[in-house]
Amino acid sequence: MDIVVKSLADLSDTERRACHNLNLRGGGYMQKDLKDFGDRSDCFAVMGWEGKTLVGWCLLLNLRIPELYVTANAKRKSKYMAQVYVRARYRGRGIGHSLMQEALKLDDRPHVYPHDERAAAFFARYRVSCTQRYVKNLNQARKEKPVAS
Ligand SMILES: CC(C)(COP(=O)(O)OP(=O)(O)OC[C@H]1O[C@@H](n2cnc3c(N)ncnc32)[C@H](O)[C@@H]1OP(=O)(O)O)[C@@H](O)C(=O)NCCC(=O)NCCS
Repeated sequence: MDIVVKSLADLSDTERRACHNLNLRGGGYMQKDLKDFGDRSDCFAVMGWEGKTLVGWCLLLNLRIPELYVTANAKRKSKYMAQVYVRARYRGRGIGHSLMQEALKLDDRPHVYPHDERAAAFFARYRVSCTQRYVKNLNQARKEKPVAS
């Protein structure tokens, strides 16, 4: 897999279209956020490509964007909000974690949304911030998988 990191402002039409098409759609915010903040040079896409196929990507939104609704606590703890999506048939191969490794170079404590058990299990090993609503998911997952020191 080739990992390509670009600011949203610098995405080619092909990259933008691929990212637009690969996400939870109505179940998440990546598609809308890409549309709303797609011209920003302070937000990033970490893309995983296998040939011409985008197999996964991570959207990093700068928490200082005034239009982004996040708590003061999130802003204090993190620089970016990180959302990750891996194409269903490519999951469980470490692609998500490879994307996170790149994301962590921009923020060593990103703000994340462990919205379900799988996402919580995925983020459990990282030092992250999240809203109070999801702390329980993360703590539960960490009981099963202690966070790396
Ligand atoms: C969460 C997601 C990004 C993981 O991507 P991935 O490429 O499968 O992740 P990896 O292969 O790198 O790692 C898999 C890890 O995720 C967790 N995981 C993946 N699938 C899981 C499942 N079905 N049930 C429980 N945990 C699961 C495991 O903790 C696993 O960790 P391990 O490597 O210690 O076993 C992917 O499942 C996905 O795109 N989900 C839908 C979008 C989403 O919920 N994103 C996160 C919130 S923004």
